[in-house]
Amino acid sequence: MCGIVGYIGTNREAYPILIKGLQRLEYRGYDSAGVALLNKKGLNIYKAKGKVADLQDYCQDKDTSGTVGIAHTRWATHGEPSATNAHPHYSESKNLAIIHNGIIENFAEIKRNLEGKGIEFRSDTDTEVLVQLVEYIQERKRLDLLTAVQVALHQVIGAYAIALLDKNNPDTIIAARKQSPLVVGIGDGEFFLGSDASPIIEYTDKMVYLEDGNIAVMKLGEELKVVNILNEELSPAIHTVDLNLGQIEKGGYPHFMLKEIFEQPECLTNCMRGRINVEHNHVTLSALIDHRSKLIDAKRIIIVACGTSWHAALIGKQIIENLCRIPVNVEYASEFRYRNPVVRSCDVVIAISQSGETADTLAAVELAKEKGAFIYGICNAIGSSIPRATDTGTYIHVGPEIGVASTKAFTGQVTVLTMFALTLAEAKGTVANKDYVKIVEQLATIPDKIREVLKTNDTVRDLARTFTYAHNFIYLGRGFSYPVALEGALKLKEISYIHAEGYPAAEMKHGPIALIDSDMPVVVIATHNAMYEKVLSNMQEIKARQGRVIALVSKGDTMVSRLADAVIELPETMECLEPLVATVPLQLLAYHIAVCKGKNVDQPRNLAKSVTVE
Ligand code: F6R
Repeated sequence: MCGIVGYIGTNREAYPILIKGLQRLEYRGYDSAGVALLNKKGLNIYKAKGKVADLQDYCQDKDTSGTVGIAHTRWATHGEPSATNAHPHYSESKNLAIIHNGIIENFAEIKRNLEGKGIEFRSDTDTEVLVQLVEYIQERKRLDLLTAVQVALHQVIGAYAIALLDKNNPDTIIAARKQSPLVVGIGDGEFFLGSDASPIIEYTDKMVYLEDGNIAVMKLGEELKVVNILNEELSPAIHTVDLNLGQIEKGGYPHFMLKEIFEQPECLTNCMRGRINVEHNHVTLSALIDHRSKLIDAKRIIIVACGTSWHAALIGKQIIENLCRIPVNVEYASEFRYRNPVVRSCDVVIAISQSGETADTLAAVELAKEKGAFIYGICNAIGSSIPRATDTGTYIHVGPEIGVASTKAFTGQVTVLTMFALTLAEAKGTVANKDYVKIVEQLATIPDKIREVLKTNDTVRDLARTFTYAHNFIYLGRGFSYPVALEGALKLKEISYIHAEGYPAAEMKHGPIALIDSDMPVVVIATHNAMYEKVLSNMQEIKARQGRVIALVSKGDTMVSRLADAVIELPETMECLEPLVATVPLQLLAYHIAVCKGKNVDQPRNLAKSVTVE
């Protein structure tokens, strides 16, 4: 998730506005940053790896004058984090500069065509392809900038928010959006641009939220013009935005955690983009295909991870074993690294980590490497240590996770593990085509199902008020729901400091049942699946001991409601995909209980977002 800022005016210097804007957007991602400035002498681009502060250091002795500019903070997708791959990117002649948030899926094909025409590329990014294409069209067809952008966007598949500067049109910024947010701020004889309102609100509260397919032309001395790709003029609404800065950096949410819970539909769409082909019901993880033989021949898979990532691994184990018929061991990285484990060269080790920096997981990767295993990473932070240490891997692409309690990374990890299992099972021939197609079809609908679950937010908040009194909680689930129970309990512990335990539901009678009394809330995942009847009897056992049951049920269920004190309905999906929907209300429950208890949700005591020490 990158950040975009732009400014065009006559009386103010652009550079300080752009730098401040980048700092406000830094929460979106920060492996590198850059700025393009237009002044009487020309178009200058300055870029640096690292934070916005590194860009400022780099610019100290540079000419940063000019009243027109665009700037970008990057969270790498294509190409490693580096000054070269940072945005803005010049076109070949250096007359154009572009910044981009999103992914151009068909960039390789366009790049090949342009290279065939003799155009040289300076970076590994998908973004540079777009600016080169615009210039090629502009020069080749002698088109004005706007028309060239429209023609280029016609050829592009993917998601984007872009902004372009042209040395030969120094009074104009062109911006366009498809599936990536972009906001235009309207000032007095000046325009502002941002990925969200945070870089703009200080200067104007008049904003236009661009819609998918909108192209904005910000030309000095003219009104804002918004057209579509066919050049039809549109009349977008101008909103008066009533927000303070603190709020908008969280997108209007009171906490990053809540924002990240609500972002999950969009995050999972990004995670699946370019990997799932809905039309052909097909999934491809290119990293797996590139190392096909290593993975097909694996005699065993070992997954190493910590915390929430370890819970995702437990779900991955079940789906990989079911579909690929390979034994999968799930290991706490911290135990694995000190245990002299049996690891052979015919094993594949999967390391799962949101941050890509967890010290124990990194050490487990190094150990497995020494023992000759092939290492596959599933991470979120691009260019972090674990992806660099692995043989190959897949990014979950859910954008920076700021809240300390992991939410969207968990569902992203489970989504990637599901795609991993599907790709490998197809390659090994261990899955029947009808089952494969059904899972792919259902997986593609998960973002919409999570949207539906998010509508229960008010119900969950009311429920949270009722249960704030509790000092202990038990979470129960079976099969695919058991790791969900563990994850629900972990979320509650970390942010509300209530003691909570997750158990496989049937294990309860082997000990934990002694804890049940009328004060004990028990969260039971009791959806329609193979274990439904069994879980119902577990629930009877709790009720017989006056426990208070909060049940997650499939939509329309009437049996459970008769037993439970409260129910949260979930849309139906396949059992193996249920964790993706069932985890969401448990994230919300933990969140609302912590808020009711007045806890610091985004920075709980004693916890760090990335555990880089043992
Ligand atoms: C829980 C949480 C932690 C992390 C764990 C591993 O909400 O955030 O349990 O999951 O520290 O972190 P990563 O995934 O970055 O390796």
